[in-house]
Amino acid sequence: MQDIDIDDLAYVHISKGLDDVVVKETVLSYIDGENGRLFYVGYPIEELVEHSTYEEVCFLLLHGRLPKKDELESFTDLMKSERELPKELVAILSKIPRNSNLMDVLKFGIDYLAICDEELQSKGRVDNIVTAAKIISKSSTIVAYAFRYSEGLEIVRPSQELSHAANFLYMVTGVKPDSLSSKIMDVAFILHAEHELPASSMAALVIASTLSDLYSAISGGVGALKGPLHGGANEKALEMILSIGSPENVEGYVKQVLASKGRIMGFGHRVYKSYDPRAAIFRRYLESLSQQRGDRSFLDITKKLEEVVRRELAGKPIFPNIDLYSGAVFHMLGLSKRVFTPLFAAARTVGWAAHVLEYWRDNRLIRPRATYVGPPMRRYIPVHQR
Ligand SMILES: CC(C)(COP(=O)(O)OP(=O)(O)OC[C@H]1O[C@@H](n2cnc3c(N)ncnc32)[C@H](O)[C@@H]1OP(=O)(O)O)[C@@H](O)C(=O)NCCC(=O)NCCS
Repeated sequence: MQDIDIDDLAYVHISKGLDDVVVKETVLSYIDGENGRLFYVGYPIEELVEHSTYEEVCFLLLHGRLPKKDELESFTDLMKSERELPKELVAILSKIPRNSNLMDVLKFGIDYLAICDEELQSKGRVDNIVTAAKIISKSSTIVAYAFRYSEGLEIVRPSQELSHAANFLYMVTGVKPDSLSSKIMDVAFILHAEHELPASSMAALVIASTLSDLYSAISGGVGALKGPLHGGANEKALEMILSIGSPENVEGYVKQVLASKGRIMGFGHRVYKSYDPRAAIFRRYLESLSQQRGDRSFLDITKKLEEVVRRELAGKPIFPNIDLYSGAVFHMLGLSKRVFTPLFAAARTVGWAAHVLEYWRDNRLIRPRATYVGPPMRRYIPVHQR
């Protein structure tokens, strides 16, 4: 009997966490981590936030270019026309348990949409873009309906007058947002739309590379984003800010966390080794919101946190990340912590779809290897002899 023949694979370098492994070329986004800059298809994020809309950014990511006026109008109309959900899905959502994890519900909802799509497997690029618009649009409604039903509230039907992002805020809170709140939501959706290849986009690609369908890939992305190492940090950052309570407590809090080798939420990033540009944008809107509401409490605590953390970690490239400010902003807009990560997911559906469509242009099945470190070959022992 021959022993297991362990080939050269046993000695190759293992890229744990796929660190520094490049799996595809992309035109979708570029992160300049050293200088704290982010670009979608070459456009600086700051310019998109100022001049564009989430709908236009969706078009940009799905088509790889900005739309002409009529193209933007018809794409916006398409997204609007897809806001409602199949009534059978609404009926199921009305029965989900109180306190259910809304990421699970979102995953389920997207899978339900797949079940209803009869042409699932036979789509070309153009049809897939339409499917992507449908998933992007309906994801926000799934989250909003699931949230309200699970809180024992009446659902709020989508409004055709509002932008995609403002409509999300309306469907969750039941209040028609003013222009500043609408703008902030739009900015939040743009800033969460795409970010190169984090775990969730990679998960979507792995699924798509088998030539499965767009729904499955995006549903997989939601599953990956659900984990606390990916989505979820802004919820923790908000909890931290609320527990600190006032700027005078910041100094003591930071020193105590650092002394016990803990992490300050909302600081540090695997790629950004300078100020996260998305955090800088959110910070500006937190300032506007604080001024409008006459409530500076969140702003003062976060500013003090920045000052103390930067001072205490002076030698390290630890700067505020998007989550330090987004949680505070969402809280001030009246959003429950339960919808923070689902909001991120609903906004990121476009990034996942765009990466999948880009990958399918030159698809290759993703099939890495693992180094075998188990026992040498041995004989099976029947259960009664063990
Ligand atoms: C995001 C994160 C996981 C990135 O980590 P990373 O790039 O792997 O950085 P490392 O874990 O290698 O940390 C490098 C050093 O900075 C320190 N550090 C990193 N983030 C820190 C934080 N938020 N608070 C305190 N110290 C921090 C580490 O302790 C480590 O110190 P050491 O070299 O003395 O051991 C990390 O910064 C973190 O946990 N942040 C808090 C959670 C958060 O805000 N997540 C949202 C990210 S968008």
